[in-house]
Amino acid sequence: MKRIFITGAGTGLGASVAERAAAQGHRVGVFDTNRAAAEALAASLPDAVALDGDVCDPASVEAALDAFGDVDVLVNNAGILRTGPLIEHSVDDFRRVVDVNLNGVFIAAQAAAKRMRETGGGAIINLASINGIHPSPNCGAYAATKAGVIGLTQHMSIEWGAFGIRVNAVAPGFIDSGMSAPFYRDEKVRALRGGAVPLGRLGDANDVAETILFLASDAAAYISGQTIAVDGGVINSVLLHLPRDAS
Ligand SMILES: NC(=O)c1ccc[n+]([C@@H]2O[C@H](COP(=O)([O-])OP(=O)(O)OC[C@H]3O[C@@H](n4cnc5c(N)ncnc54)[C@H](O)[C@@H]3O)[C@@H](O)[C@H]2O)c1
Repeated sequence: MKRIFITGAGTGLGASVAERAAAQGHRVGVFDTNRAAAEALAASLPDAVALDGDVCDPASVEAALDAFGDVDVLVNNAGILRTGPLIEHSVDDFRRVVDVNLNGVFIAAQAAAKRMRETGGGAIINLASINGIHPSPNCGAYAATKAGVIGLTQHMSIEWGAFGIRVNAVAPGFIDSGMSAPFYRDEKVRALRGGAVPLGRLGDANDVAETILFLASDAAAYISGQTIAVDGGVINSVLLHLPRDAS
């Protein structure tokens, strides 16, 4: 049994991680700005506590970690998406995305790592995105924060390994869940994007949650500083649809 604190766990991918973690017998902290969603989810799980707070606010993260008690695993999942061409992107929106997706990851990771250092170690899994690895149009602000998350993950892993803390990132691809679910309601988008994936389908919340829980587990005891794309192979597929002769 591990004690797993998940930010942004009220809905979407974080909620799926919480449900699967609970099903595996772990104790779960459901931390979210959406108090009602966090409370409803925690009430449905065998050993979970709803924790109200904002990853941008260090005091609320500290208070939630204090209320949760010792933490073995932090899943830094809270995130927001703002789309649009960079030439017209509102500066306020850009700042907001950086605050939640990058500053928030640092704030929660640092607070959890200080506690893990005292208790002999732990694991941190940060939610990146394939947008942090490959650029795509109209999500420059979001993508820049996710590239930052991958860099932070690497730096945390080398500085915190001495405390017994492993730090990894997961980079979901085309996932039909959470913030992307409305996008994939359009059948044309589903067909176009699903068809571009070497494994031939969109991903789902379970694909992402299983990878996060693997990285949280002792089976991943010697893995740190890595970013695992959960994308059906799509980030390697730029040449897939440009065939050349087999001979
Ligand atoms: N769904 C996808 O296709 C996809 C793909 C790549 C990466 N991701 C990443 O996965 C993570 C989860 O995304 P999702 O799709 O489940 O999104 P979502 O919008 O469904 O859920 C995000 C949750 O985070 C909470 N939240 C937002 N700001 C917060 C804050 N400041 N403090 C605490 N909680 C906050 C929200 O209330 C919500 O419950 C994000 O980091 C996202 O960037 C998602």
